[in-house]
Amino acid sequence: MGEWQLRSHRVFWGAQCGAACLWQPMCEWLGHNRAMAKIISIVQVKGGAGRSTLSTNIAGELSKRGHVVLLDCDMPQGTSASWYAVRQELRGGELVERLVLDTAASHAELIAKAQEHAGADFIVIDCPPRIAEITRAALVLADLALVPVGASLPELWASSDVVALVEEARKVGPVDARVVWTRFRANTKSARELSAMAAKELGLPIMVSALALRVAYPDAMGEGLTVAEVGDKAAKTELVELLAEIAMHMNT
Ligand SMILES: Nc1ncnc2c1ncn2[C@@H]1O[C@H](COP(=O)(O)OP(=O)(O)O)[C@@H](O)[C@H]1O
Ligand SMILES: [Mg+2]
Repeated sequence: MGEWQLRSHRVFWGAQCGAACLWQPMCEWLGHNRAMAKIISIVQVKGGAGRSTLSTNIAGELSKRGHVVLLDCDMPQGTSASWYAVRQELRGGELVERLVLDTAASHAELIAKAQEHAGADFIVIDCPPRIAEITRAALVLADLALVPVGASLPELWASSDVVALVEEARKVGPVDARVVWTRFRANTKSARELSAMAAKELGLPIMVSALALRVAYPDAMGEGLTVAEVGDKAAKTELVELLAEIAMHMNT
Protein backbone atom coordinates (compact mmCIF):
# COMPACT_ATOMS: atom_id res chain seq x y z
CA MET A 1 0.00 0.00 0.00
CA GLY A 2 1.26 3.48 -0.69
CA GLU A 3 0.69 6.99 0.57
CA TRP A 4 -2.42 9.04 0.24
CA GLN A 5 -1.94 11.79 -2.28
CA LEU A 6 -3.99 14.63 -3.55
CA ARG A 7 -3.53 15.29 -7.23
CA SER A 8 -5.63 17.75 -9.16
CA HIS A 9 -8.41 17.60 -6.58
CA ARG A 10 -8.64 13.82 -6.87
CA VAL A 11 -7.65 11.47 -4.10
CA PHE A 12 -5.34 8.58 -4.81
CA TRP A 13 -4.26 5.71 -2.65
CA GLY A 14 -1.11 4.07 -3.86
CA ALA A 15 0.87 4.74 -6.98
CA GLN A 16 -1.57 3.15 -9.39
CA CYS A 17 -5.02 4.15 -8.28
CA GLY A 18 -7.34 2.46 -10.72
CA ALA A 19 -10.32 0.16 -10.92
CA ALA A 20 -8.68 -2.34 -8.58
CA CYS A 21 -7.89 0.23 -5.90
CA LEU A 22 -10.11 0.08 -2.84
CA TRP A 23 -10.02 3.84 -2.60
CA GLN A 24 -11.32 4.41 -6.10
CA PRO A 25 -14.96 4.89 -5.01
CA MET A 26 -13.85 7.64 -2.65
CA CYS A 27 -11.66 9.20 -5.36
CA GLU A 28 -14.61 9.30 -7.74
CA TRP A 29 -17.03 10.55 -5.18
CA LEU A 30 -14.89 13.25 -3.60
CA GLY A 31 -13.73 14.35 -7.02
CA HIS A 32 -17.09 14.61 -8.71
CA ASN A 33 -20.11 13.85 -6.58
CA ARG A 34 -19.64 15.21 -3.08
CA ALA A 35 -22.63 14.14 -1.01
CA MET A 36 -25.34 16.60 -0.20
CA ALA A 37 -25.64 15.15 3.28
CA LYS A 38 -23.57 16.94 5.90
CA ILE A 39 -21.30 14.40 7.53
CA ILE A 40 -20.30 14.57 11.18
CA SER A 41 -17.73 11.98 12.25
CA ILE A 42 -17.15 11.22 15.91
CA VAL A 43 -13.54 10.13 16.12
CA GLN A 44 -11.38 8.99 19.00
CA VAL A 45 -8.72 6.32 19.27
CA LYS A 46 -9.10 6.01 23.02
CA GLY A 47 -11.93 3.64 24.03
CA GLY A 48 -14.72 4.80 26.33
CA ALA A 49 -14.13 8.46 25.50
CA GLY A 50 -17.77 9.22 24.77
CA ARG A 51 -18.03 8.64 21.02
CA SER A 52 -21.33 6.76 21.14
CA THR A 53 -22.77 9.17 23.70
CA LEU A 54 -21.95 12.08 21.43
CA SER A 55 -23.11 10.26 18.27
CA THR A 56 -26.51 9.21 19.62
CA ASN A 57 -27.29 12.57 21.19
CA ILE A 58 -26.32 14.50 18.08
CA ALA A 59 -28.11 12.10 15.71
CA GLY A 60 -31.26 11.98 17.86
CA GLU A 61 -31.54 15.76 18.08
CA LEU A 62 -30.64 16.40 14.43
CA SER A 63 -33.44 14.03 13.39
CA LYS A 64 -35.87 16.68 14.63
CA ARG A 65 -34.50 18.98 11.92
CA GLY A 66 -34.07 16.59 9.03
CA HIS A 67 -33.35 13.08 7.85
CA VAL A 68 -30.42 11.55 9.67
CA VAL A 69 -28.43 8.37 9.19
CA LEU A 70 -26.58 7.14 12.25
CA LEU A 71 -23.75 5.02 10.89
CA ASP A 72 -22.32 2.71 13.55
CA CYS A 73 -18.81 1.73 12.50
CA ASP A 74 -17.89 0.27 15.88
CA MET A 75 -19.24 -3.22 15.33
CA PRO A 76 -19.64 -5.71 16.91
CA GLN A 77 -19.79 -3.51 20.02
CA GLY A 78 -22.54 -1.53 18.32
CA THR A 79 -23.47 0.87 21.12
CA SER A 80 -25.18 3.29 18.73
CA ALA A 81 -26.96 0.38 17.04
CA SER A 82 -28.20 -0.87 20.43
CA TRP A 83 -29.34 2.63 21.40
CA TYR A 84 -31.29 2.83 18.14
CA ALA A 85 -32.86 -0.60 18.68
CA VAL A 86 -34.06 0.45 22.15
CA ARG A 87 -35.34 3.76 20.75
CA GLN A 88 -37.28 1.93 18.09
CA GLU A 89 -38.69 -0.69 20.45
CA LEU A 90 -39.62 1.55 23.37
CA ARG A 91 -40.47 4.78 21.58
CA GLY A 92 -41.05 4.04 17.91
CA GLY A 93 -43.30 6.39 15.93
CA GLU A 94 -42.15 9.92 15.38
CA LEU A 95 -38.88 9.56 17.28
CA VAL A 96 -37.38 7.18 14.76
CA GLU A 97 -39.14 8.04 11.54
CA ARG A 98 -36.46 10.49 10.42
CA LEU A 99 -33.58 8.54 11.91
CA VAL A 100 -32.09 5.54 10.15
CA LEU A 101 -29.45 3.24 11.58
CA ASP A 102 -26.86 1.62 9.37
CA THR A 103 -23.49 -0.02 9.98
CA ALA A 104 -20.17 -0.28 8.18
CA ALA A 105 -17.27 -2.60 8.99
CA SER A 106 -14.60 -1.45 6.54
CA HIS A 107 -13.54 1.74 4.84
CA ALA A 108 -14.91 0.50 1.50
CA GLU A 109 -18.26 -0.22 3.13
CA LEU A 110 -18.24 3.17 4.86
CA ILE A 111 -17.68 4.96 1.54
CA ALA A 112 -20.42 2.89 -0.10
CA LYS A 113 -22.85 3.62 2.76
CA ALA A 114 -22.04 7.33 2.71
CA GLN A 115 -22.80 7.37 -1.01
CA GLU A 116 -25.97 5.35 -0.53
CA HIS A 117 -27.24 7.82 2.08
CA ALA A 118 -26.06 10.97 0.31
CA GLY A 119 -29.68 12.13 0.02
CA ALA A 120 -30.09 12.39 3.80
CA ASP A 121 -29.64 15.74 5.51
CA PHE A 122 -27.04 14.48 7.98
CA ILE A 123 -24.88 11.41 8.41
CA VAL A 124 -23.43 10.88 11.89
CA ILE A 125 -20.56 8.39 11.96
CA ASP A 126 -19.72 6.63 15.24
CA CYS A 127 -16.13 5.50 14.61
CA PRO A 128 -14.25 2.55 16.12
CA PRO A 129 -11.46 3.25 18.64
CA ARG A 130 -8.79 2.16 16.19
CA ILE A 131 -6.12 3.66 14.01
CA ALA A 132 -7.56 2.08 10.89
CA GLU A 133 -8.53 2.80 7.30
CA ILE A 134 -12.17 3.14 8.28
CA THR A 135 -11.34 5.87 10.81
CA ARG A 136 -9.18 7.75 8.29
CA ALA A 137 -11.99 7.50 5.74
CA ALA A 138 -14.47 8.88 8.29
CA LEU A 139 -12.17 11.87 8.83
CA VAL A 140 -11.75 12.51 5.12
CA LEU A 141 -15.48 12.26 4.45
CA ALA A 142 -16.48 14.52 7.33
CA ASP A 143 -17.63 18.10 7.03
CA LEU A 144 -16.88 18.24 10.74
CA ALA A 145 -15.02 15.70 12.88
CA LEU A 146 -15.60 15.84 16.62
CA VAL A 147 -13.06 14.32 18.98
CA PRO A 148 -14.54 13.63 22.41
CA VAL A 149 -11.97 13.95 25.17
CA GLY A 150 -12.64 13.41 28.88
CA ALA A 151 -11.94 16.72 30.59
CA SER A 152 -8.82 15.78 32.54
CA LEU A 153 -5.11 15.78 31.80
CA PRO A 154 -4.67 11.96 31.80
CA GLU A 155 -7.50 11.61 29.28
CA LEU A 156 -5.98 14.38 27.22
CA TRP A 157 -2.61 12.61 27.17
CA ALA A 158 -4.30 9.35 26.19
CA SER A 159 -5.81 11.10 23.17
CA SER A 160 -2.59 12.00 21.41
CA ASP A 161 -2.87 9.12 18.90
CA VAL A 162 -5.82 10.82 17.29
CA VAL A 163 -3.56 13.66 16.16
CA ALA A 164 -1.48 11.37 13.92
CA LEU A 165 -4.67 10.07 12.40
CA VAL A 166 -5.96 13.56 11.65
CA GLU A 167 -2.61 14.50 10.14
CA GLU A 168 -2.67 11.46 7.85
CA ALA A 169 -6.20 12.28 6.74
CA ARG A 170 -5.11 15.85 6.01
CA LYS A 171 -2.74 14.53 3.34
CA VAL A 172 -5.89 13.69 1.42
CA GLY A 173 -7.89 16.84 1.99
CA PRO A 174 -8.91 19.43 4.54
CA VAL A 175 -10.19 17.99 7.83
CA ASP A 176 -12.05 20.20 10.28
CA ALA A 177 -11.43 18.27 13.53
CA ARG A 178 -12.37 19.78 16.88
CA VAL A 179 -12.18 18.57 20.46
CA VAL A 180 -15.37 18.29 22.52
CA TRP A 181 -14.86 18.03 26.26
CA THR A 182 -16.93 15.25 27.79
CA ARG A 183 -17.51 14.31 31.44
CA PHE A 184 -16.58 17.85 32.26
CA ARG A 185 -16.53 18.47 36.03
CA ALA A 186 -16.59 21.81 37.77
CA ASN A 187 -13.81 20.74 40.13
CA THR A 188 -11.35 19.70 37.43
CA LYS A 189 -8.89 22.14 35.92
CA SER A 190 -10.63 25.13 34.45
CA ALA A 191 -11.77 25.00 30.87
CA ARG A 192 -9.24 27.66 30.01
CA GLU A 193 -6.32 25.67 31.47
CA LEU A 194 -7.46 22.45 29.83
CA SER A 195 -8.00 24.15 26.50
CA ALA A 196 -4.51 25.61 26.60
CA MET A 197 -3.10 22.14 27.39
CA ALA A 198 -5.19 20.58 24.62
CA ALA A 199 -3.99 23.14 22.10
CA LYS A 200 -0.42 22.24 23.09
CA GLU A 201 -0.90 18.44 23.27
CA LEU A 202 -3.30 17.92 20.38
CA GLY A 203 -3.06 21.08 18.31
CA LEU A 204 -6.77 20.90 17.55
CA PRO A 205 -9.32 23.66 18.10
CA ILE A 206 -11.67 23.19 21.04
CA MET A 207 -15.46 23.45 20.85
CA VAL A 208 -16.75 26.07 23.27
CA SER A 209 -19.65 23.80 24.27
CA ALA A 210 -18.81 20.86 26.53
CA LEU A 211 -20.75 17.92 27.92
CA ALA A 212 -20.65 17.74 31.71
CA LEU A 213 -20.41 14.58 33.78
CA ARG A 214 -24.08 13.75 34.30
CA VAL A 215 -26.05 10.58 34.98
CA ALA A 216 -28.45 11.81 32.31
CA TYR A 217 -25.99 10.55 29.66
CA PRO A 218 -25.90 6.85 30.62
CA ASP A 219 -29.59 7.04 31.60
CA ALA A 220 -30.63 8.46 28.23
CA MET A 221 -28.44 5.93 26.40
CA GLY A 222 -30.14 3.00 28.18
CA GLU A 223 -33.58 4.33 27.28
CA GLY A 224 -32.83 5.00 23.63
CA LEU A 225 -33.20 8.75 24.19
CA THR A 226 -31.15 11.91 23.98
CA VAL A 227 -30.45 13.87 27.16
CA ALA A 228 -32.78 16.55 25.79
CA GLU A 229 -35.57 13.97 25.90
CA VAL A 230 -35.06 12.72 29.48
CA GLY A 231 -35.94 15.98 31.20
CA ASP A 232 -32.51 17.07 32.48
CA LYS A 233 -32.64 20.80 31.76
CA ALA A 234 -28.92 21.49 32.19
CA ALA A 235 -28.01 18.56 29.93
CA LYS A 236 -30.54 19.72 27.34
CA THR A 237 -29.08 23.24 27.40
CA GLU A 238 -25.52 22.04 26.79
CA LEU A 239 -26.64 19.71 24.00
CA VAL A 240 -28.60 22.50 22.30
CA GLU A 241 -25.54 24.75 22.57
CA LEU A 242 -23.34 22.05 21.09
CA LEU A 243 -25.72 21.58 18.15
CA ALA A 244 -25.77 25.32 17.50
CA GLU A 245 -21.97 25.36 17.46
CA ILE A 246 -21.89 22.33 15.13
CA ALA A 247 -24.32 24.08 12.76
CA MET A 248 -22.12 27.18 12.81
CA HIS A 249 -19.02 25.21 11.84
CA MET A 250 -20.84 23.35 9.07
CA ASN A 251 -22.61 26.44 7.72
CA THR A 252 -26.05 24.82 7.97
N1 LIG B 1 -20.86 13.33 29.77
C1 LIG B 1 -20.98 12.13 30.35
N2 LIG B 1 -21.42 12.02 31.64
C2 LIG B 1 -21.51 10.81 32.23
N3 LIG B 1 -21.21 9.65 31.65
C3 LIG B 1 -20.76 9.68 30.38
C4 LIG B 1 -20.62 10.91 29.66
N4 LIG B 1 -20.16 10.61 28.42
C5 LIG B 1 -20.03 9.28 28.35
N5 LIG B 1 -20.37 8.71 29.55
C6 LIG B 1 -20.35 7.29 29.88
O1 LIG B 1 -19.02 6.79 29.65
C7 LIG B 1 -19.10 5.48 29.10
C8 LIG B 1 -18.38 5.45 27.77
O2 LIG B 1 -19.08 6.30 26.87
P1 LIG B 1 -19.32 5.87 25.35
O3 LIG B 1 -20.06 6.99 24.72
O4 LIG B 1 -19.93 4.51 25.26
O5 LIG B 1 -17.81 5.85 24.86
P2 LIG B 1 -17.16 5.24 23.51
O6 LIG B 1 -18.24 5.12 22.49
O7 LIG B 1 -16.11 6.25 23.14
O8 LIG B 1 -16.56 3.92 23.88
C9 LIG B 1 -20.58 5.13 29.00
O9 LIG B 1 -20.96 4.40 30.13
C10 LIG B 1 -21.26 6.48 28.98
O10 LIG B 1 -22.58 6.43 29.50
MG1 LIG C 1 -18.91 3.46 21.43
